[in-house]
Amino acid sequence: MKGFDIKTEIQEFDTFAEFANEAELGTDDLIFTSERTFNEFVAPLNLGVQSLFREKYGKGEPTDAMVDAILDALREKEFDRVIAIGGGTILDIAKLVVVADKDDHVDDLYDKVDILEKRHPLIAVPTTCGTGSEVTAISVVNRVSRGVKMGLASPAMIPDKAVMVTNMLDSLPYQVFATSSIDAMIHAVESFLSPNSCSISRVFSKTALEIIVKSWDKAVKNGGGDAWKEYSADFLKASNYAGLAFGYAGCAAVHALSYPLGSVYHIPHGQSNQLMFAEVMKAYKEIKPVGAINDVEKIVAECLGVTPDSALDALYGLLDKVLSRKPLREFGAKESDLTTFALEVPKTQQRLLKNNYVPLTEEQIFEIYKKVF
Ligand SMILES: [Fe+2]
Repeated sequence: MKGFDIKTEIQEFDTFAEFANEAELGTDDLIFTSERTFNEFVAPLNLGVQSLFREKYGKGEPTDAMVDAILDALREKEFDRVIAIGGGTILDIAKLVVVADKDDHVDDLYDKVDILEKRHPLIAVPTTCGTGSEVTAISVVNRVSRGVKMGLASPAMIPDKAVMVTNMLDSLPYQVFATSSIDAMIHAVESFLSPNSCSISRVFSKTALEIIVKSWDKAVKNGGGDAWKEYSADFLKASNYAGLAFGYAGCAAVHALSYPLGSVYHIPHGQSNQLMFAEVMKAYKEIKPVGAINDVEKIVAECLGVTPDSALDALYGLLDKVLSRKPLREFGAKESDLTTFALEVPKTQQRLLKNNYVPLTEEQIFEIYKKVF
């Protein structure tokens, strides 16, 4: 049995300048980020670092074409450390950059996942409060050429350092806060319910869930909008804890069923997770009403001051206040797509489905999609 350990050194700073000073960032370092983040936090420090801006290589979540273009752009560059500053897209791409050999493309990395080696030290600086990617070994790419969004996981991709700088969340747009914190909450729940969790990973899952649910509740009661910013340090901490938990115990059906929605309709990751969350949980509860799901109900009940029986419904209601939800058909989905998804998900997402609270058949997966439709 594998033990719970934390491979990434986690550091906390009040400002990016403090981190840059301690890490002695300089000419050998490659900063991979957005131009806006670079100009706001890095450029004023005149560090002489090298830079690569992700928006020059495509929009949205990572695709094979985007990553290949970035690998091509880096082939002639000489650099040592990679400092990735951003949300899930930037951190996930950086994990591929540090394991890619001179001639590698994305498909090569999937082909040789078992023998990948880290070629550059990786420092991850998250600027959203969701992915937890700064402490996990997983990178998720939409392999458009193969029509599937899937994760690649290797111990060689785990960041060496995760640098938590609270004030980097200050300029986060509400939509990104909402989708990323929803993603983090779902990491907490899926990792808590995973049969591959352990007592230590569940401490991180539980704490993350408590922090997020209580902070959402306070932010919503304070009028929503920018009210979450008062709790930004808590959200950042919670997303990191949830990352530690799912890095060990894994995510499950919510993520597995949401991947096609991101891939086909380009729904942001956290939002597509939200669409699937309630119906997956309802299916779990129906199939196995007694078990760890009751612990989730108790945790949420205490956070929201409701009874355990009504806790999950209260959580779905709170989620909808954080980000309003609409049916899948309003994103352009056709009913015939659901059959394809239900057929493909069990074939392509076993990495996730093996962590389900209970196994789901193709028919049960189809029923879940129909309810979200
Ligand atoms: Fe996620």
